[in-house]
Amino acid sequence: MSNVDSRPIAILGGTGPAGMGLALRWARAGETVIIGSRDATRAQKAAEEIKEKAGDRAAVTGVENSAACAAANLLVLTVPFEGQATLLKQLKPAIRPGSILIDATVALAAGVGGRASRTIGVWQGSAAQQAAELAPKGVSVAAAFHNLSAELLNGDADIDCDVIVCSDDPSASQITRTLAAKIPGVRPIDGGKLENARILEQITALLIGLNIRHKGHGGIRITGLPPEAYR
Ligand SMILES: NC(=O)c1ccc[n+]([C@@H]2O[C@H](COP(=O)([O-])OP(=O)(O)OC[C@H]3O[C@@H](n4cnc5c(N)ncnc54)[C@H](OP(=O)(O)O)[C@@H]3O)[C@@H](O)[C@H]2O)c1
Repeated sequence: MSNVDSRPIAILGGTGPAGMGLALRWARAGETVIIGSRDATRAQKAAEEIKEKAGDRAAVTGVENSAACAAANLLVLTVPFEGQATLLKQLKPAIRPGSILIDATVALAAGVGGRASRTIGVWQGSAAQQAAELAPKGVSVAAAFHNLSAELLNGDADIDCDVIVCSDDPSASQITRTLAAKIPGVRPIDGGKLENARILEQITALLIGLNIRHKGHGGIRITGLPPEAYR
């Protein structure tokens, strides 16, 4: 499969388990990945770790978050909810017009001292809608990848999980679904408008609770749709 429009993918906050797992899977699929971090050295270290797993030919580099935004127009945001707004405000001048911002943030109560298996209310409706409010004009936001286990992403096996993508921009949704399909085992599904992201974010909290209760790595599968729905 060819690269996503030959665009590099910049993962902001890509030094954590979610960002590194996505980076690993996309590097293995032949994509060019830029790991973003608040600290360039940490980003470079994460990029080296990914290359060790994905192979020397993997195209992965690490830079500070704003340099990552300047170098790519396909951005994936994988930071804790409590850092999302501040980071987006800081990065606003660096985000290129026409970029696609894929948000995987979940507003977990753990970030404010509560349980990881609960979400907190977000004024805009969801973390993804908050990202859309804070992103520069002309940037399309898609919500995706919330329900994928980072632990599984960082492994080698196919992932038994569908990725539902929500966006108000059909083109951003399609590009995000193309990226999702590059993760072995994942089926992408168009989940409609960005406002549906609040449901995706709550499913993550449910999955965390199930994982604690049953000691596993739960995912979701949506059944009964025609084959064309899964692309
Ligand atoms: N873990 C999962 O299984 C999973 C699955 C799906 C979605 N998610 C969601 O994806 C996001 C990332 O998850 P994660 O487990 O990878 O999180 P994490 O390890 O807590 O954070 C990811 C990275 O975000 C950066 N960061 C942390 N606090 C920040 C702040 N206040 N401001 C700016 N950047 C900050 C850090 O990078 P630097 O210090 O290098 O800047 C950190 O390595 C979360 O919103 C989570 O709910 C997680």
